[in-house]
Formats: sequence, C-alpha cells, structure tokens
Amino acid sequence: MDPVCVADFERLAEQRLEPGAFGYYAGGAGDELALTGNVEAWRSLKLRPRVLVDVAEVSAATTVLGTPVSMPLLVAPTAIQRLAHPDGEPGMARAAAAAGTLMCLSTLATSTPAEVAAAAPDAPRWFQLYVFRDRGVTRSFIEQAVESGYEAIVLTVDAPWLGRRERDLRTGFRVPEEIVVPSLAAIGEWAGATPLELLGAIDPSLGWDDLAELRALAPLPLVLKGIQTAEDARLAVEHGADAIVVSNHGGRQLDAVAPTAALLPEVVEAVGGRIEVYVDGGIRRGSDVVKALALGARAVLAGRAPLWGLACDGEAGARRVLELLQAEIELTLALCGCSLPGAVSAAHLTSSAAQGHGQSPHPRQDP
Ligand code: FNR
Repeated sequence: MDPVCVADFERLAEQRLEPGAFGYYAGGAGDELALTGNVEAWRSLKLRPRVLVDVAEVSAATTVLGTPVSMPLLVAPTAIQRLAHPDGEPGMARAAAAAGTLMCLSTLATSTPAEVAAAAPDAPRWFQLYVFRDRGVTRSFIEQAVESGYEAIVLTVDAPWLGRRERDLRTGFRVPEEIVVPSLAAIGEWAGATPLELLGAIDPSLGWDDLAELRALAPLPLVLKGIQTAEDARLAVEHGADAIVVSNHGGRQLDAVAPTAALLPEVVEAVGGRIEVYVDGGIRRGSDVVKALALGARAVLAGRAPLWGLACDGEAGARRVLELLQAEIELTLALCGCSLPGAVSAAHLTSSAAQGHGQSPHPRQDP
C-alpha cells in the first residue's frame, strides 16, 4: 500500500532499513521521554477553527530570515543521510528544492557543502555548525559553507556532550566504514575521520562569549539551535543571534526535558518579536505546524519525517513527504479559516491547550 502520511513512511522505513540504522534514526536518549513527549505535545494541542472565511485561495508560503519558502517547514540538519539511501544529502537537497523549501545541511554530512549546493544550485540552504576544539576544523567548515552559498550558520548549542542513545547500544550500531565525512578531506590530519570521531572533537567549553569570534569568522546570519528556556532566548538576542530554534535535538540529548511545544510560549514571550523563533521536535503532521504558528513560531524544522521519505525512496520519497506535509499545512490553514500562515494566531488554539503549554504571547481575538 502506498504511504499516505508520515507515519506510513516511518513504518515502511523500518522495513527497509537495517535494525541498527533504523534505531539510529528513530531513537532518542535514555528512556526516550523527550522523543515521545515532543510528538505527544503537538498531538494534545487542539485547534479552534473559524468558519465562513474566504479560503478559495490559500498559500502556505512565508519567509525565513527574509528568504521566501513555499511553507513554514524547513528540512532540519540530520547526520549521515547516505546511511538512509545512496541519494544522501544531494537527494535531500533536490527534494527540498522541488518542494520549494530550504534545507539545513549537517556538519556530519556524507557529501561536501559544495556537492550539496551543486545538487540544488537555485534553492536556499543553511549550514549547521558544530564548533570543534580544533578551530582550524571549525574554520574550514565555515569557509566551505560561505564559498558554496549557504545563507546562514545554524550553530547547534545543545550537544556539548553527546546524549546516550541506548537503542544504538542495544543493537550494537556502528556507522559503517564506508560512511565518512568528505568535507574533512581538505583538512590533512582529519581526512578519513569517522562521524563519531568528529562528534568526540566538539568543543564542550564553548560559551556565550565565544559567539563574537564565530560571528567574525562567518559573515552570515547566525541561528542558535537548541534553546530551551526564556533565559537563554534573552541571552541569544543580547548576543546578536539572528534567530533561534527551540529544540531538544529530537529527544537525542537531555532526556528529562519538557516537550518543545510546551517551551515555545515562554521563549516567544522572552524574545518579544526581536528575532525569528523556529521550533523542532515531533513534527509529523501539517496540523502540528499550524499549532506551532499559533504558539508564535515563524516556522518549524522537520528531522525524521523527510528522513523516512529518503529511506523509503531516496530523493523521490523525501520529496513526497515534504509535498505531503505542505498539502496538510494548506488544508489545515483552510479548515481553520486562514488563507496565509500570518493569519494564524493564538486564538486558533483552545485555551486549555494554551494554558497547558504556558502563557500565550498573543492577545486573544474575539471568541
Ligand atoms: C539529528 N539532529 C541533528 N541536529 C544537528 O544540529 N546536527 C546533526 O548532525 C543532527 N543529526 C541528527 C541525526 C538524526 C538521525 C536525527 C533524528 C536528528 C537533530 C535535528 O536537527 C532536529 O533537531 C530533530 O530531528 C527534530 O526532531 P524530529 O523532527 O526528528 O522529531
């Protein structure tokens, strides 16, 4: 049977992938409470649709950092995509371009930033960065991203230490030897390093004061990914971040945390419209995206959803997942009485849901 929703793609991906690889993609840290909590939190929010609104024309199109995209859903950075399918990151980039949205490439990619840019030269792209103890390595990644036309640096700040992913321990998952990070080839002693070696080289001492040095290296907007509190959201604004992503790394880092849907209102309130706020973790439906907009997010990132598409059918599968989510977003907007993402407000969520997820930053409109 043809998959008709993200959950169908996930089931199919589980059949197609080796158990170790599936566990690596699907799994989270510890008891996977954050992983399942993210999904459940979106599901538990309820929409308040308005009727007799002209929805003959509906568009999900929006902008992120001024860049037009077909919908408020971007492709999150996920590592080693060639493990899911030989199409890998270039296939994901072509899928995102076909769907009219933006892809964020992981530092731990199985193609170079230049190869991914060449696969979809006209599409917008961001580069996710880890900062390494060896600043030469960090600099090389930034230079490659700048040279290949990446339009923002997305600095991941929730992984100074790597979360303990117990599925990988149980399955004995090891990244296959042929999976390497080719962008390291240019950096002498690092050529041929495995993704795990690279993760072990992340600088755990990175602090707020180091952001200025980073900004000087990269003449691009800086997005901080992995913010989970109002305090850190304020610090991000004060340190000149151009946007933040409320994220717990898809439940793969600290397990004992609140779902991102629950944290979004306090972060949006702290930011007070000064910079754009995105959210990720557990996005499986177009309705989840509309709920995120109602809580004040500008856009969401989806990690596993397009990965399941890639695992099932390479570029074509990832494209189908992204197009499916776009169609679901448009349908949800129409049935909520919204012709555009910008028409969604806190009034489109039930107040019990909003109360259960912090105070809404938006004034209530007429009931
Ligand atoms: C990730 N994520 C991630 N984040 C990042 O900044 N750099 C990375 O290399 C990776 N790698 C990675 C691999 C895999 C297999 C997954 C599932 C996730 C986190 C990712 O960007 C995003 O925050 C989450 O995937 C969002 O949650 P959902 O959409 O997967 O539920």
